[in-house]
Amino acid sequence: MEKNFEKAKQLLRENNQEHIIQYLEKSKNPEKLVEQILNMDFEQLSNLYESTKRPIEIEESEIQPIKFVDKNKLPKEEVTELEETGKKIIRENHYAVVTMAGGQGTRLGHKGPKGTFLVPVEPEPKYIFQILTESLIRENQKYGVVIPWYIMTSEENNEETIAFFEEHGYFGYPKEKITFFKQGKLPIMNTEGKLLMDKNGLIREASDGNGSIYASLAKSGALEKMKQEKIQWIFIGAVDNILLNMVDPSLIGLCIKDHNQIASRTVTKISPKERVGVFGKKKGHPAVIEYSEIPEEMAEEVDEDGELLYGEANTVSMLYSMEALEKASKIQLNYHKAVKKMGYLDENGQWIEPKEPNAFKFESFMFDVFESFDDISILRSKREENFAPIKNAEGADSPETARKLYNQFHQN
Ligand code: UTP
Repeated sequence: MEKNFEKAKQLLRENNQEHIIQYLEKSKNPEKLVEQILNMDFEQLSNLYESTKRPIEIEESEIQPIKFVDKNKLPKEEVTELEETGKKIIRENHYAVVTMAGGQGTRLGHKGPKGTFLVPVEPEPKYIFQILTESLIRENQKYGVVIPWYIMTSEENNEETIAFFEEHGYFGYPKEKITFFKQGKLPIMNTEGKLLMDKNGLIREASDGNGSIYASLAKSGALEKMKQEKIQWIFIGAVDNILLNMVDPSLIGLCIKDHNQIASRTVTKISPKERVGVFGKKKGHPAVIEYSEIPEEMAEEVDEDGELLYGEANTVSMLYSMEALEKASKIQLNYHKAVKKMGYLDENGQWIEPKEPNAFKFESFMFDVFESFDDISILRSKREENFAPIKNAEGADSPETARKLYNQFHQN
């Protein structure tokens, strides 16, 4: 132990993380921290920190609009045809749903996993997980099946998420049809590149972005389980959209008709300034261009009908073939930096909850795998039927805006 303790201190010195030494020395049980330090990939951390200094440059000439199908403009017979293809897949039990619930929801500021947030919908408040479960149960009844439901959690919220479902009797979903699996994690550093400590006196780590979904599906055995269940098409959605339609036969139908392996359901952007990523093509491959990355003129560009050229908003409603997921799980994704408010233990053992973003969290993005695919199908659908995100505590995309959209949809 003594040898490892010294080795850990040495590593911290060599990697500009001397401030951790005092936590090591003060700790009564430093074994876990020593082990964490010895297993840390400091080279990766240093590269990640260096990457934060490089500006994100996006070459406008590399970006082009992407073609899409507007479901509401399709002739009725065509919609029916797409739906029939999809319904067959669902009825024959070749369809599974994945919910990504490994995020931290720092903007919402809710203590606990985002899915455990109580939304003040009418006639009575409901938890986000409850809303998602009810929606899936309705779909199951429609097709006479029980869709296997996979929920991605993170190291930080896995236990709490499972305990929550247990406590609420899985909101009536057959428990044996729900599989939880954990995503990857990475250490958190402050904006000077210094690692932060967590409440337990260990280096603070957090989920490493929704791009973790593919490798985590494979690593956890979830993908193999799906294969054994003969699943062919997999829907992946975010936890924080309370109008998310997870079972959309027309999306499956379109993907199959187009001979693609990936499809996405979009809605039109409300305005060029809406803080949502949009679909486009980057160097000829499908891509999502984040709102923080798209140049203003590009965001405002319109076509001859006055519609935004980059107006297909990403609602994180994705469909994949099994082959696409297997391929994606082998792709090594780059990390992007997110600047977030992250609490930490200071040198006096006090827990600090910062008021402003103070730390770099590194995240891979699920959409970065698209560059390995030639094309994806995009199905534009009605916003009021599909998109009520909860991102912020107040203002746009908050519980208040989502509640209104949910109530309107369910009253009709
Ligand atoms: P967001 O990018 O909105 O992140 O996640 P977030 O962590 O929920 O919220 P903020 O940014 O801290 O406020 C979009 C979707 O991706 C999932 C989230 O749970 C959400 O469903 N996600 C995000 C993960 O599953 N893992 C991650 O590491 C990040």
